[in-house]
Formats: sequence, C-alpha cells, structure tokens
Amino acid sequence: MVNQERVLIVGALGQVGRELIYQLSNKHGVENVIVSDLKHSDNIDNKQITLNVMDYDAFKGIVIEEKITQVYNLAALLSATAEKNLELGWKLTIDGLFNSLNLAKEGHIKKIFWPSSIAVFGPNTPKENTPQHTIVEPNTVYGIGKDAGELWCNYYHQKYGVDVRSIRYPGLIGYKSLPGGGTTDYAVAIFHNAIEKGTYECFLEADTKLPMMYMEDAIRATLELMEAPAENIKVRTSYNIAGFSFSPAEIAASIKKQIPNFSITYAPDFRQQIAKTWPASIDDSAAQKDWNWKPNYTVNDLVTIMLTEIKKKVKV
Ligand code: SER
Repeated sequence: MVNQERVLIVGALGQVGRELIYQLSNKHGVENVIVSDLKHSDNIDNKQITLNVMDYDAFKGIVIEEKITQVYNLAALLSATAEKNLELGWKLTIDGLFNSLNLAKEGHIKKIFWPSSIAVFGPNTPKENTPQHTIVEPNTVYGIGKDAGELWCNYYHQKYGVDVRSIRYPGLIGYKSLPGGGTTDYAVAIFHNAIEKGTYECFLEADTKLPMMYMEDAIRATLELMEAPAENIKVRTSYNIAGFSFSPAEIAASIKKQIPNFSITYAPDFRQQIAKTWPASIDDSAAQKDWNWKPNYTVNDLVTIMLTEIKKKVKV
C-alpha cells in the first residue's frame, strides 16, 4: 500500500467534478478520494470536507491531515458568471491555482490537475483548427484567468519541477448534472428543454459554431493525461483537445430528427459576444502525439445518449 494515491478533488460538486468523483473512486477506492466544495451533497459515499480553495491554511491542513498525493483543482466561476463578478472570478482561478502550485512546490503533493478552457482564445485567434501554440489574447474574465493560470503552471513546472497537467476543455455536454454559468451550456439546456417542453430559446445566434465534447470523453482525457509518464507531457501550459463542433442550428436539426415537433428560437444575449471570440474548431495533434488522445464519441452518439438518458430521468 506504499504507493496508494490519495486524491483531493476541489470544487468537486460542479459539472466535471461530479463525474470525476465516480471515476477516480473506481480507480483509487472511495476511501482514497476526498471530496471538497463549499457545498455538501447527500448522495456521495466519499468523505466530504468544506473547503474554500482561496484559504491556503485550510487547504494545506486538509492535504496534510488526509495525506493527499494528488489534487484536482476544479473550483471556478464559468465564463458567463465571471463576467458578472470580475474580482471573484479572477481570485478564485488564480488564488486557488497558486495555492495548489505552492502545495506541490513545498513538497506536500506530487501531482496537480488544473482545467483550462477554449476560453483562453480570443478574437485574434485563428478560428478554424485553432493550433496548440497560437495568439490567445482572451477578452473575458474567465479567459484571462485561464491564460494567466496556464503560464503559471508552465512557470512552476520549469522553475520548481511541479508536475501540473492541464487540458483546455471545449464545451462539455453530459446528462448527469446541470451545468452552471457557461457560454457553451446552451448545448446541455437544449436537450432538457427539447424533452420537457419541446421548444428552446437559445442565447446564442443560430450559426455560432463552437468546439464541444461528450463528458465521458473529457473525463477519460483527464485520467489519461494524469496517468501518462511525466516525460511525455511536453506541453506544460495546457493541451488542446477536440471532440466535434456544431452550431445551435445544427444541434437543433439533429434533435429534430428524433423529436420532430421540436422547435428552437433565438434571443442572443451577452453570451453571444463571448462565444464569437472563441474558436469554431480545435487542432489537438499535440495531445494525440504526446499521450495518444483520441475521442470516442461523435455528435450523433451525443444526441442519442443525451435524449435517451434525459428521457429516463424525466419519467422517473
Ligand atoms: N464551457 C465553458 C464556458 O462556457 C468554457 O470552458 O464557460
């Protein structure tokens, strides 16, 4: 049992965290995966600890007490929410990341996962097949935090040998939890609305194409990146990964094939201004080359899974 990993998931009760709790518990054992968040959940078997990631002493106390070896630091305000709360959006991203990086620098933990996002890109970034290394210049609070954070990850790796790994998630779509505050989240809400109401009012314009991914692929990518040998991880800012891309009109048409009466209307709001600065598609060849990344799910798989699983939930 000498090499038993002890994992702390921070911000564990969000969209990504809830899925990671399950997968990481399967891998390391429920007793070795500690869940922390500001909230508490009644339907989780793991030990839960309330933690504000910006509180270094509390964070360090948990890491030492629980003999944590790996931290998945997921605490963040997503793009739309952060625009309405600049300082908290920035502080949560950067202070939380610094605290994780410093715990590793001081030798308390061995490995960190920190998510970045397609939000690191901005209006001057090439839109199609956005390369791994390119102009970023994000113009959202969330994107500025992720861009700066990526550079700090790289800095701590170069300077102090901290083993921090990161992925630029595209819009993530899953049926297990409702997202909160993202610009890509229309692509989750649309399925719930299609089933429950037969109609959806979209906050983006019809032809706004964005990179998306089925949640299970994103979680597998995360675990594969974390398991890859350290010497294979050549990108210490954050890796591009791609699933598929679609616009609201395209995903609505796919849903209509299975729910013929479904209709969509458009009422673009401030989130359209965010979406139009992000890429339409992503080049993930560096992730493919360095740690064999490959998505399993197509957009057709996504539509079928989302409609089937949400229908089951609605009936219950
Ligand atoms: N899905 C996120 C958002 O829309 C981007 O990472 O905010």
